[in-house]
Amino acid sequence: MKKVLVIGSGGREHAIVYQLSRSTQVGHIYCAPGNAGIAQLAECVAIKDTEVEKLLSFAQTHQIDLCVVGPEAALAAGIVDVFRAAGIPVFGHTKAATQIEASKEFAKELMAKYYVPTAAYRSFDTYDEAIAYVRLRNTYPTVLKYDGLAAGKGVVIAQDEQEAVLTLKDMLVGEAFGKGKVVIEDYLEGPEFSFMAFVDHQHVYPMPLSQDHKRAFDGDKGPNTGGMGAYTPLPFISAEEEQWAKEHILQAVADAMVKEGKPLTGVLYGGLMKTKDGIKVIEFNARFGDPETEVVLPLLETDAYMVFHAIAVGEIIDNIAWRKQATVGVVLASKGYPGAYQKGAEITGTEDFDGLVLHMGTAVKDGQLVTNGGRVLMCIAHGDDVRQAQQKAYEEIEKIHCTNLFYRKDIAHWAL
Ligand code: AMP
Ligand code: GLY
Repeated sequence: MKKVLVIGSGGREHAIVYQLSRSTQVGHIYCAPGNAGIAQLAECVAIKDTEVEKLLSFAQTHQIDLCVVGPEAALAAGIVDVFRAAGIPVFGHTKAATQIEASKEFAKELMAKYYVPTAAYRSFDTYDEAIAYVRLRNTYPTVLKYDGLAAGKGVVIAQDEQEAVLTLKDMLVGEAFGKGKVVIEDYLEGPEFSFMAFVDHQHVYPMPLSQDHKRAFDGDKGPNTGGMGAYTPLPFISAEEEQWAKEHILQAVADAMVKEGKPLTGVLYGGLMKTKDGIKVIEFNARFGDPETEVVLPLLETDAYMVFHAIAVGEIIDNIAWRKQATVGVVLASKGYPGAYQKGAEITGTEDFDGLVLHMGTAVKDGQLVTNGGRVLMCIAHGDDVRQAQQKAYEEIEKIHCTNLFYRKDIAHWAL
């Protein structure tokens, strides 16, 4: 039986561990660092996701057959390059390929060069040039993106010149972001959705489409968060549009990265928008999306170990099968999130939830499950259609009790 090491500690990694735990080939799962929910399925190891040398020495000592990497920070730290050099099969992109997420400018240049549809843009490394361009353009809203990993805080949609001035000063002059560039691009409009695929060089295996909910409160109001819920499938994208996006976006980028000498060997995540002029790319990520993975991965019918391992070692996969079931996942977050919040509130009833409860930020204190992060749990239910899955999720959530959690009541509203 195989031994697998999963890197990461969120709901996304809980979904990966859950799916691997159902594989007939897997005997033991380690997760570094993991969380309280993951600990029910895997042995958690207290090593941080970016401590690459420590992770390698753990993998060697424990004779790991496969490593699956969740977070972008670990990929950007070069974990895949280091494991490969040591001969350990690892699922994830090299540091060079991770640029598709880590550098907005790299991604935009690649799309321009290979005709992948995206918003028109220019990039700047000084404040004076950037603001001169914004003033000349004089069109609002305008989209300002810091070029680099900015933990979700690197995009500002400026509504007027004053906001653009403040933002560009922050990004290019102040200390908050470090030394970098800014990409300035056209503002696009339309529903956003997520299209993920397993990619091994030019082989692209698409996953079911899903949609995240970025804002904290119902009606897509309130501050931006890491994602308050997700669902699949999406009724507003037709099979033809999906096929078009697979070919002209995901496949085009997979081929482009091979040509650039930076082949993809993990998950390519397309953050796409359906605009009146067709489907366009908002961003790429070099990893599983969170919280989309929590609703998509449980639908995988093909053995997860087989899929991850084949991509890690470059074997072609005949077919990856997905269960065709509607799935809705609702995030329970600490009150105050995404601002300041308290930790340590008792949670009860998760075992009564009929469906899947994935842990995002929990801990066990004196034998009791407690909150330990901004996003705490993701509650996932299936149904024949999105409405049924949504109803089921909200009915079952009533069984979970905690005085310090809140959640959106309208996850999947775009589909209904
Ligand atoms: P990103 O970090 O690139 O995903 O951007 C964060 C969010 O900003 C996206 O999810 C979009 O809602 C929004 N956004 C980014 N680029 C654009 C654009 N060109 N037009 C409109 N909205 C955008
Ligand atoms: N759900 C958005 C992301 O994973 O970046």
